[in-house]
Amino acid sequence: MSSERLDKIISSSGKYTRSESSKMIRSGAVRVNGEEVRNPAFKADGNSDKITVNSRKFVYKKYIYIMMNKPSGVVSASDSPSDVTVVDLIEGELKRPGLFPAGRLDKDTTGFVLITDDGDFAHRILSPKRHVSKTYRVTLKEDITEDEAEMIRTGLMLNGEKLLPAKVKKLDGEHVYEVVLKEGRYHQIKRMFARFSNEVTALERTAMGNLELDSSLKCGEYREMTAEEIMKVEMKT
Ligand code: URA
Repeated sequence: MSSERLDKIISSSGKYTRSESSKMIRSGAVRVNGEEVRNPAFKADGNSDKITVNSRKFVYKKYIYIMMNKPSGVVSASDSPSDVTVVDLIEGELKRPGLFPAGRLDKDTTGFVLITDDGDFAHRILSPKRHVSKTYRVTLKEDITEDEAEMIRTGLMLNGEKLLPAKVKKLDGEHVYEVVLKEGRYHQIKRMFARFSNEVTALERTAMGNLELDSSLKCGEYREMTAEEIMKVEMKT
């Protein structure tokens, strides 16, 4: 881990803005390895230096990773002039600047949205080259035929483009299926089933990579992810 300005480290907690952090540092509230540091530009290592704010241990997290069970009617974006976004729902300790959803779900889709401020991580899990899977519970108007399931498994043609092979299997429940995609095209699931003149009546993302949505999270609830969970997203399924 490289060194960063002390005011940047303190403001990364999301509790204080950059200028509040500078003010606190100037006032003598911040110590690095026991020494009072009054210079906001002082370079420290947030992971290895012992930092205290008002004599309390400061826990530095460069990035944050949040699992949310997205409700319907909320858009997966950082800001919107007209809609409530998944980032608007984050409050308290986990709120910080720069949060965005890693990948998009439609406004009416529910389920697992990963919200982070780590652009490299988001890029890795969304890159089609990495093939990080996204699992959906899909409710259809009608059951699909075995031929249609086979077309999905071998790679469906959609508007002249061949999709990557996807997994599809029947789940308990009327017209309910699990679909696992290794790419994320615009309205992909809805368009795949529309291709068979079928219709998606409910869509929920249940897993990203090897990590399932925490079933104890109700719609609209979220929590910080553990280090092990973050790794599981990138693990091959
Ligand atoms: N496919 C869709 O059609 N919509 C989503 O929200 C996700 C995948």
